[in-house]
This record gives sequence, C-alpha cells and structure tokens, in this order.
Amino acid sequence: MCGIIGYVGNKSALPVLQRALKRLEYRGYDSAGVAILQDGRFKVVKQPGKVEKLNVLLESIPMHGKLGLGHTRWATHGVVSEVNAHPHWDCKQEIMVVHNGIIENYKHLRKELEDKGHKFLSQTDTEIIAHLVEEYYTHTLEEAVIKVLSKIKGTYAFVVASQREPEKLVGARLLSPLILGLGENGYYLVSDVTALLNETRLVVYLDDGDVVVVKKDGFQILDFKGQPRRKTSSKIQWDFSTRDKAGYPHFMLKEIYEQPEVVKRNITKYIRAEEISLSIDENILREAKHLWIVACGTAYHAGLVSEYLIERWAKIPVTVDTSSEFRYRDVVLEENTLFICISQSGETADTLAALRLARKMGIRTLAVVNVEGSTIAREADTVIYTNAGPEIGVASTKAYIAQLFILQLLGLKLAQLKNTIDIGFYKSYLTEIQMIPLYLESCLANASQIQKIADEVYNAHNFLYLARGMNFPNALEGALKLKEISYIHAEGYPGGEMKHGPIALIEDSLPVVAILSQGRVRDKMLSNLLEVKARHGKVIGIFPAGDQEVKEVCDYSIEIPAVREELSTLLVPIPLQLLAYYVAVNRKCDIDQPRNLAKSVTVE
Ligand code: F6R
Repeated sequence: MCGIIGYVGNKSALPVLQRALKRLEYRGYDSAGVAILQDGRFKVVKQPGKVEKLNVLLESIPMHGKLGLGHTRWATHGVVSEVNAHPHWDCKQEIMVVHNGIIENYKHLRKELEDKGHKFLSQTDTEIIAHLVEEYYTHTLEEAVIKVLSKIKGTYAFVVASQREPEKLVGARLLSPLILGLGENGYYLVSDVTALLNETRLVVYLDDGDVVVVKKDGFQILDFKGQPRRKTSSKIQWDFSTRDKAGYPHFMLKEIYEQPEVVKRNITKYIRAEEISLSIDENILREAKHLWIVACGTAYHAGLVSEYLIERWAKIPVTVDTSSEFRYRDVVLEENTLFICISQSGETADTLAALRLARKMGIRTLAVVNVEGSTIAREADTVIYTNAGPEIGVASTKAYIAQLFILQLLGLKLAQLKNTIDIGFYKSYLTEIQMIPLYLESCLANASQIQKIADEVYNAHNFLYLARGMNFPNALEGALKLKEISYIHAEGYPGGEMKHGPIALIEDSLPVVAILSQGRVRDKMLSNLLEVKARHGKVIGIFPAGDQEVKEVCDYSIEIPAVREELSTLLVPIPLQLLAYYVAVNRKCDIDQPRNLAKSVTVE
C-alpha cells in the first residue's frame, strides 16, 4: 500500500513524478503529494484525493528542479488530510521523506523527539523518519539514515532527500518493496516496476536490509551497518503496453476481456508436445506428500479451488490457509510438505511473512506469482509465473484466471508424476484444457445479457452466492468481487450449508447467484436451488448450456459451455466478474479504485 517514487537526474523531476504516481496509484489513492528541490529549497504540494486532483493543482504551480519525491497514500496512521499526506519533513523543512509501511514504535520515538524540542505537524508514523534524520544528521545523509534504521521498528520502504546534499537520495527497505531504476537520464527509487514505464527497463531489485545511496552520477548499496553490498541489475521483460485502457471504460473490464489471451499465453508457455512443463525441478513435486497453500483474498480462493482438484487427481492432502491466519497459528508442517504461496503482486505482507516462516521451518517453498521480480518470487525456492501481465484494476480478474489455470496444470503434473491418474485421462484433459480460451470467449459473449440482469438487481442490499464442490470457492470469489466494487453486502456459501442458517435470509428481494456444473454435486445443488425457490428467492443461475431442468428453476439464466466440472471452475469466474462489474456501473461506483482498498497490501 502506498506508492513511492524518488528521482534524481538530468530531467525535470516533476513530470517524472507525475507519470510514476499515476502508475503507482493503484497502491493507494486517498491522497498524493510531491516535493521538488528547486533553487536549493524544497517546494511541496500535497493534498487529499487522487493523483489527477494533484495534477490539476500542479498546473497552476510552476515547479522545476531535477530531484524530487512523490507519494500516493493509503492511510494507516492519521486521517486522510493534507497534513497527513506525504512527503513529510523535519523541523526546518530541509529533509523530505516518502514512506510505504508502518513504523510500529513511532509513538515512543515521537515522545522522545518532542521532549528534545522537535515539532510534529501530522499524525503519521512517517514523520518520525524526517525528524530522526534531522537529529542524527551530522555528516552524510546515508550515515544519518543508517542511525535511524537502528531506532525504528516495523516495515518500510522509504526515500529521503536533503537540501544539504542536493543531488542525493537515500532509500532503505525492510518488508516493503523498493526498486532502483537505472535510466540514461537519472535514477529512480520506486515501489514497483510498473512506475518505470517509458523511463527504463534496467533495475536493481533491493532486498530487505538494503540501504541505497543514489547520486546523479552513480549509486551504492549498503547494508544496515553501512557495509557495501553487491547487487546485479536485471532487465524487466514485461509488456507494458497493457497499461492503458485500450478504449474500455475501466481497466477491470479490459482485464476481464483479456482473460482468453492470458490463458493462451500460459498454454504456449507451459504445455508443449502434449506435456506439461512448468520449468521447475519436478522432484519438488514428486517428493511432496502434503501441500500447504497460503494466500490472501482472490488468490486464496484460487488456492481453495485447487484443493479440490489436487486431492482428486494427485491423492495427496492439501491444506489451504489465509496468510494472516497461517502466520499466527501454531501450524504443524510435516516433513515433505510443499508450501505454496499464491500472489498476484508478489508483495502482500502477510503472504510474504508466511513464506518466510515456512522457509524458517525448513519447508520447501513454491510461489505462484504474477509480478516478475517481486519479493515473493525472489524469496521462494521456486517460482511459477502466472503471466497475466500488469493488472491495474484493484479487483483481481485476469490474475485469478491465470492462478486457477496454473494450479490446474500443477495438479495434473503432480498426479502424472505420482502416477495417480490414468494416462488417457491426462492426455484428454490436456487437450480439453487448451480449449479454455475459446470457452472463455463464449462466456464473454454473454456480457450484454449479464448487463441486463445487473440492471434489474443492482438495487438489492444483499446477495447470496451458492455453489457446491469445486465451484464453491468461486461463489466466495463472486461475493468478494461484488462487495469490493459495488459495496453491496454479499456472502458466498456452500449450497449444502444453507439450511444451517442462511436460508433464514431468503425472500423475494434477495438475489441468489447459484453456480451449477456437471458432475457429482449437480443434483444436490439443484435441490438446494429448489429450496431457495420455494422461499421466493430470486435466482440468478450460472450453469452448463442445455441444462433445461436448471434453467426452468432460475429467474435469470447465464449459460456457460457444458464442460466437465473441473474445467467449469475456469469459466464460472467470467459471469461472476461481469455481474459484479455491471452492478457497480449501475451504482456509479469507482470501479478501478474502490473505496478503502489498494491493489498491493504491503502492510499486515
Ligand atoms: C480482490 C483482490 C485481493 C487480492 C489480495 C491478495 O479482488 O484483488 O483480495 O487478491 O489482496 O493480493 P495478491 O494476490 O497480490 O497477494
């Protein structure tokens, strides 16, 4: 959460900061600000609201200067206000700081500094960094920062600049991402690589415990004790062209429509000559006796779907946990457990902490990650990339499909290696799964019909999502999508559990989204649907084309291709995403940047 940028070089800093902030905005968007070192003094502009609002203000405030800091905020400490927006500064406004993370012991440090006469303006934890630097700044900025690091506790990526050393930035990271961009015309310190679009593709991924000192003509990386650290640079491979809306009204809709392409990309990458090749050491899978899958939000739902599939195919136990629960429970991981974490961003604080915990326990780790070079991707023993490309809409869509797809391949591969599925089934499934892009296209073709359904139900106060078996996690995901972008309360429930409580909610004003597929739970789910109908629930059914019996029960029907149950888990998300999207459109919600949310949750 929060996006930070520092720039020093030969270019005018303001446009660089503005471009980067626009791209970092998905990390938080309740306030934004910039500081530019201009004629030896810092000039600061910051305010509540999105980057666009800041840009409008900046049109009337000329700012020039070749060093600057920028920030887009997701509030943790202190309300959303101008004074709490970053950058923050010291008593003399000579030292500027932008920060992502939480300084946990800030209250105690603030008291100490106030007793020494420091004057604080904001309620933030971040401001402490500027005052501590001021306190310790006797020689160089990096020396002061290193002293600060020995005092602060928590998670952080921050960048500091000082008027005293006008061509220098100092950054540090611990448990929040920070990347150094190496451009021809300067250096960039940013929260993630997407901020570097059109600036440079050459980066140094900083690690926890790194301090980076950047000057106009070079950089140096130190550890928290000031000792030099060696780092190599990497080239970003991402196709950045996906970073505009391409004519769609929202990134979310564009990303929904990109899903067939995302799956095609993964087919090309991981299926060759009728074989799955995940480009990892297969012994990791061969030796795994138990899978422990850990993730948050949408990625957690992908993990839950895979639990059904992997247990069915590979016949090994699978446990799925949310990262925030895993890390604070006394989990017992047996030998030969394979820990798998799933993350779009590769930076989610709880998932990263869970990964580190597993590594500390000596467990093998595998990350299923979208963002190349992200911290989780770099720290896991092995990584499988999901190749969804940059996902900008805060509500995850194409990253989810990519995770589901990769986890299906992983399950099949495991089963093949463990000899738990018939080779004929394996081959035919591999043929069928390559049809998924086509099936996804036909799900997308239902968009206008789904829009009409949304037009009729968008005023509801609550929604219930029901499914059984391997589509149950998709019910959770459908409810999550609706909640986050339309602000309607929604719950996902296993169909069979309904009569243990939620059935009390059923009445004619409650839309019930029911997911049915072919397979062993179809008839059971149909019975649950009849129970809803008997109580006048309004049923929106998502079911295989041609299932007339189900169609007759539904008030609104959304048909998907009639594929086997396992494959249906890859198709069902499309109608769920489209329904949430059009409901949110009707309610005039801020779809790409829903309130209170941020794309990358880098605080716990
Ligand atoms: C929901 C959503 C979130 C994320 C969750 C994990 O649409 O996007 O629930 O799935 O915050 O994020 P990653 O996958 O980046 O670890």
